[in-house]
Amino acid sequence: MQDGSGRTIDYLRLSVTDLCNYRCRYCMPEEGVCKRPHSDILSLEELAEIGEAAVHCGVKKIRLTGGEPLVRRGILELCRRLRAVSGLEELCLTTNGSLLPELAKPLRETGVDRLNISLDTLRPDRFAAMTRLGRLSDVLDGIRAAEDAGFQNIKLDTVLIGGFNDDETGDFLALTMEHPWEVRFIELMPMGPCAAWEKSCFLSADTVLKSNFPLQEIDPCGVARRYRLPGAVGTVGLISPISHEFCGECRRIRVTADGKLKGCLHSREELPLRGLHGEALEAAIRQGVLHKPQRHHLSERSSDTPRNMNQIGG
Ligand code: 5AD
Ligand code: SF4
Repeated sequence: MQDGSGRTIDYLRLSVTDLCNYRCRYCMPEEGVCKRPHSDILSLEELAEIGEAAVHCGVKKIRLTGGEPLVRRGILELCRRLRAVSGLEELCLTTNGSLLPELAKPLRETGVDRLNISLDTLRPDRFAAMTRLGRLSDVLDGIRAAEDAGFQNIKLDTVLIGGFNDDETGDFLALTMEHPWEVRFIELMPMGPCAAWEKSCFLSADTVLKSNFPLQEIDPCGVARRYRLPGAVGTVGLISPISHEFCGECRRIRVTADGKLKGCLHSREELPLRGLHGEALEAAIRQGVLHKPQRHHLSERSSDTPRNMNQIGG
């Protein structure tokens, strides 16, 4: 599919729930989300139907997101069903990793190709403080379980937060010496709770390049600039939506767990997909793609979306 600005759109991020077992301070309010009636959230059938329709329209990669996708009942069945859609080249999932000790193996068996695991700090006390409900050891166990289950090219996503984890970039970089992971530093985007945070929390991903580590640039992958330390088995990615805006290369659309198509994470514009089937559903997806906004305006102001990240899917 081509959007109105001539970009090829072939990547769908499909949110399967707005619920999460963590309450990361930048993402969610302490009290969590008010639990909506089940009927507000797309059923497994609807999720699968939307995924299939998107693939018919030209989507080649689907990433399941949340909230935390692994808290969604039926997630394994959904993965199995999406993986069987012919024309889909890659099925990925972004998770906080906490449920991987139990779910990595069955998830792998559904055919999920790759995992991104969020990990903002390597210090147990900081991890507990940031996630409010989480335990670092669960996520570390989860990463190990993912490897044992046969997942390769695991990506660790680290949101860079000034005054919180900017003194840990060296520890994260060091992980790539021994593990075949891509450690990716992501700029904190002002939306939801963190939109009100001090300017000093928002760091350019380039701060990682100013560390004393001899990072050598390698080929970029998607929207990530990439680097490698000499002799490292893993790689380093920088994702800089603010300091190096990549909207011109954006290939993605999103569907929220309540069934709204979003052309851009940061836009208010949403197109309801619920109740549509078959050709009508595909026509709506094409329509949404055609009207995908050209760019966000994060360098001038906070995100325009009234949603928190858990209500869109990272
Ligand atoms: N800015 C950048 N990344 C964010 N995430 C959640 N909120 C933000 C934000 N405001 C990340 C999570 C996770 C992914 C799903 O999105 O940390 O890695
Ligand atoms: Fe949950 Fe991810 Fe939001 Fe943290 S950032 S509260 S893990 S959805």
